[in-house]
Amino acid sequence: MKNTKNLTLDPENWDEIRELGHQMIDDLVDYWKGIREEPIWKPIPEEVKASFNSPIPKTGQSPTEVYQEFKETIFAYNKGNVHPRFFAWIQGTGNPMGVWGDLLASGMNPNVAIGEHAPMYVDKQVVNWCKEMMGFPEEASGILVSGGSMANITALTVARNSFKSLNIRKNGLQETAQKLLIYCSVETHSCIEKAAEIIGLGTDSIRKIRVNDNFEMISEELEAQIQADLEAGFSPFCIVGTSGTVNTGAIDPMDELLKLSRKYQLWFHVDGAYGALCKLDPVYSDRLKAIEEADSLAFDLHKWLYVPYEVGCTLIRDKKKHRDSFSITPNYLLPETRGLAGGLDSLNNYGFELSRGFKALKVWMSLKEQGLDKYQMMIAQNNRQAEYLAELVTSAPQLELTAPVSMSITCFRMIHPDYTESQLRELNREILLRLQEEGIASPSSTILNGKFTLRIANVNQRTRFEDMDILVREVLRIGNTLL
Ligand SMILES: Cc1ncc(COP(=O)(O)O)c(C=O)c1O
Repeated sequence: MKNTKNLTLDPENWDEIRELGHQMIDDLVDYWKGIREEPIWKPIPEEVKASFNSPIPKTGQSPTEVYQEFKETIFAYNKGNVHPRFFAWIQGTGNPMGVWGDLLASGMNPNVAIGEHAPMYVDKQVVNWCKEMMGFPEEASGILVSGGSMANITALTVARNSFKSLNIRKNGLQETAQKLLIYCSVETHSCIEKAAEIIGLGTDSIRKIRVNDNFEMISEELEAQIQADLEAGFSPFCIVGTSGTVNTGAIDPMDELLKLSRKYQLWFHVDGAYGALCKLDPVYSDRLKAIEEADSLAFDLHKWLYVPYEVGCTLIRDKKKHRDSFSITPNYLLPETRGLAGGLDSLNNYGFELSRGFKALKVWMSLKEQGLDKYQMMIAQNNRQAEYLAELVTSAPQLELTAPVSMSITCFRMIHPDYTESQLRELNREILLRLQEEGIASPSSTILNGKFTLRIANVNQRTRFEDMDILVREVLRIGNTLL
């Protein structure tokens, strides 16, 4: 029987939803415009947390009521990485045009994996721009993914599947008696370990090479380890170099790693989740030149290209190896020569995901709006701000740097001649927590050579040099109250 009323999720009153949408945009713009004057972070009250335990609503509310609740319980307690003094972990700020890109992408709602539609071409263009930014050859391939972890595992899957002619994709690892080994430094991000577990190699297959005083992999030890493993009958297959370690922004000796990978015929992968884009800063471009020769590269655009979460990229030098690792064409995904199923090669042939959002749009719109030259200057600015902060630290007798400054990460702590190591740890922990709780700034922490450290990782497009003055002033103020 035909229903008298057709159900839909669209509004009955389009003007009302339009007005609410305008209000949301207004609120967002006010938020960004005024963010510098706001506390960077505030604790979430218990009753607000409790509100997230309520059961699934059986009946609906008006859009205005839902938005009001969002403002009171969610918007008010954001993480703070849109703020100019957010320096925790390595998290980007986002940019207004990128947000509009996400809004439009969501409104268009394409699944950017298959079919003849403009978003597929935008996705391809953004990957081409990524190759261009990184100096990868035109014939290389790539795919946009959710972030650095996914980008790394995508690359390592291709590396593993390309190992000799073992046909691991078909046979799995059970068929091979060889123990495949990955080489990286002790400072490598934990996602490489996770990737090794997930692609069936296991954590024992990772050789973590020691680092020098600058936290960079010691290439002589890498070579000695490769030789020892070959003599022991193992199968070294991949070197992972990091361009910008998560702890201190250190750069592994890229030229050396590239040479060793060629000498021993190993896959050379670069984890540049944080710092591949640092290549755009002329001060670093020579040291990072070898990235252009890597077999694969993983990097994030939601970090140092400042676009909103989530988007990362994997680039693979050999397109065939990339495609051979993932391509699959079931009957329900057959390509056509014309019509909706025509067009470009399906993107699920280059990665694990079949459902993919239009994350390329925010990158496309942002790069068009600003131009690459502006991004070069922004990245260089973050690096210079990190160096400026280091100067402030070295000129303050109560502070010490705990690592050399590399890229845009500055690590330091407060010191006191009479304090033991554990007292210094407590002092700096308390400084860190108060900086956050008083809403002043959000560094994060790490432990370097046993020293608890404030860690300032700056991929922030809103930071000004004066924010570094504020940070140092406040660290000293809080620290001196505690002493
Ligand atoms: C060097 C490095 N690799 C990998 C990652 C993981 O990237 P994502 O958080 O985007 O998954 C990070 C994150 O900070 C990183 O710094």
